[in-house]
Amino acid sequence: MKLMVTAGPTREPVDPVRFVSNRSSGKMGYAVAAAAQLRGHDVLLVSGPVAIKAPGGVELIMVETADQMQRAVMAGFNKVDALVMAAAVADWRPAVVHVQKQKKSSTSLTLPLEPVPDILAQLAGIKGSRLVVGFAAETENLLSEAQRKLSAKRLDMIVANDVTAPDAGFEVDTNRVVLVWPDGSSRELPCMPKTDVAEYIIDWLEENLPASAT
Ligand code: PMT
Repeated sequence: MKLMVTAGPTREPVDPVRFVSNRSSGKMGYAVAAAAQLRGHDVLLVSGPVAIKAPGGVELIMVETADQMQRAVMAGFNKVDALVMAAAVADWRPAVVHVQKQKKSSTSLTLPLEPVPDILAQLAGIKGSRLVVGFAAETENLLSEAQRKLSAKRLDMIVANDVTAPDAGFEVDTNRVVLVWPDGSSRELPCMPKTDVAEYIIDWLEENLPASAT
């Protein structure tokens, strides 16, 4: 199979020295890319800025902003059989990007934010027979929020993680996820290394891809 994986955060610039971002380390997405590559699949990894090394043998595209990630995903999408979107893409970005560094002052600063177009939602209408897997990073109502995103983005599976758990979500080496499907079924996995969560995701893709893509 040809698989595209996204990983890491995006950085949305405020001015030439500052940005709005999040705590994604890239570990979850890189584990998915590595697991697929080790099983002999062709992997295209689209990554935001992270401090970890990309797995050998994958095609790597580094991006910074959500816009750049969207362009890279759109450009690669028609060449792949499946997409796993583990990146923590910005939901909002500064509405104005200042050309010069904003001066420090003693008054408070208000930073107007505008919504960022959702990459997965844009793919819903053009996915065809491709399998599209999203992640849901939640702090409350894990299952219902995951089901809402699964249906709104017309995903084939969503991997829900409660990012308030100390051994799950951002930065840590382990995750605690629930796999959720469009027919309403779900499977809760115990806490395990992100590398093992990745194996479950690749198992599911291998079992569910059309025979022509395996
Ligand atoms: O990188 P790590 O430190 O290992 O942390 C892993 C993780 C917590 C980042 C990962 O497990 C995870 O949950 N990734 C998804 C984070 C996220 O953005 O979740 P969300 O619920 O806000 O978004 C739902 C889905 O929509 C995600 O697949 C996301 O990639 C996608 N999305 C979000 C915003 C946007 N503008 N476009 C998108 O496609």
